[in-house]
Amino acid sequence: MSDLLERLRAGLPPEALITDPDVTASYAHDMASFCEAGTPAVVVLPRTVEQVQYVMRTATALRVPVVPQGARTGLSGAANASDGCIVLSLVKMDRILEISPVDRIAVVEPGVVNAVLSRAVNEHGLYYPPDPSSWETCTIGGNIGTASGGLCCVKYGVTAEYVLGLEVVLADGRLLTTGRRTAKGVAGYDLTRLFVGSEGSLGIVVKAVLALKPQPPQQLVLAAEFPSAATACDAVCRIMERGHTPSLLELMDRTTVRAVNALASMGLPETTEALLLCAFDTPDLSADLAAVGELCTAAGATEVVPADNPAESELLLQARRMSLTALETVKSATMIDDVCVPRSRLGAMLAGTAAIAEEYDLTIGVCAHAGDGNTHPVVCFDHQDPDESRRARESFDAIMALGLELGGTITGEHGVGVLKKEWLARELGETGVELQRSIKAAFDPLGLLNPGKLF
Ligand code: LAC
Ligand code: ZN
Repeated sequence: MSDLLERLRAGLPPEALITDPDVTASYAHDMASFCEAGTPAVVVLPRTVEQVQYVMRTATALRVPVVPQGARTGLSGAANASDGCIVLSLVKMDRILEISPVDRIAVVEPGVVNAVLSRAVNEHGLYYPPDPSSWETCTIGGNIGTASGGLCCVKYGVTAEYVLGLEVVLADGRLLTTGRRTAKGVAGYDLTRLFVGSEGSLGIVVKAVLALKPQPPQQLVLAAEFPSAATACDAVCRIMERGHTPSLLELMDRTTVRAVNALASMGLPETTEALLLCAFDTPDLSADLAAVGELCTAAGATEVVPADNPAESELLLQARRMSLTALETVKSATMIDDVCVPRSRLGAMLAGTAAIAEEYDLTIGVCAHAGDGNTHPVVCFDHQDPDESRRARESFDAIMALGLELGGTITGEHGVGVLKKEWLARELGETGVELQRSIKAAFDPLGLLNPGKLF
């Protein structure tokens, strides 16, 4: 350990190193509950690519594991430290290097906060769509690590669709450039896409070329109240079937609505079983909202209320974004699922989740990116009650089993980390895992990068 610190001190400025155990302990884990986390030997906060290369060369020479981190807003333990590791926090590499309205790209360092980038490109009339609920704090590097989604994905897609090229420091310190800054390109295997969602297990992203869109008109949100999850899901199917292109199509169940009202007095309707939020950012907003309103009514909505103005719309989005935080206050602990099913199976997924809640006698609040078929059943329980904790874990697993049965995936946007490791193997199968392991070995033969995650 002293050898490690000595070597790091020799090549890095003193302010880039944190060794005080009280402080390093605060870098031990991300926001996921019930995920093992070790004690880091040191936290390094590099400011340059060369410093990252120096850290990786040192780690390789001494065979020390490295855990890359962004803002640690992740929900699967993918950024959790392992014992004796170097935590490599990229948050100080936070420069926006370029915004090009002609090429419609931004070139950024990994520590840029999602909302900071969003606002910066807005000033050029451009739009960076991926918008996780944590967008005010999460970083682009972290978004790339977990291939983050968000509210706008139903129309604009997830982070993977926006990463054109990367600079990556490999485990041995070499610098790899992948991808492009051009509108197209098919030169060789798509290593860029491989890094997106690799949870820091293949290399350290130190620069990203991101695609941008022209800024659309400001969106307006419509809120529709449904007497059941089934009728709300029917509305989602009708909206998509008719070829509408909502910029957001989100669902909050009654447990979620109540929790949000309790946390922030949002005044959301508590009598509804399912609240559907649907937005458009099209030129003909009112016509689109009216058409969707009619489809909601036909599916059984008891109330359809289009927001009058952008401020009111923004409030509804805030309510949706705080859903998870609100559900965390229902009981002393939560486990958050992230199952994504084909949207035609959303109704079956929600019905099955309700049956699981009943079977295990637990409160499971659901918020969902309904338009993507991506649900977040949040199992709320008392972690001091051993029986309730056991039932929580079992129901959390039962939800993933149900998702796979319905032709879905165990994770739409939060990643595998340590939380869903066993389940990744079930989803990929033996051959899938074997090939993924050999890809990992090609990039990181010594197994130093974020060990113990994914597999
Ligand atoms: C959300 C986070 C939990 O959808 O992914 O709010
Ligand atoms: Zn989400």
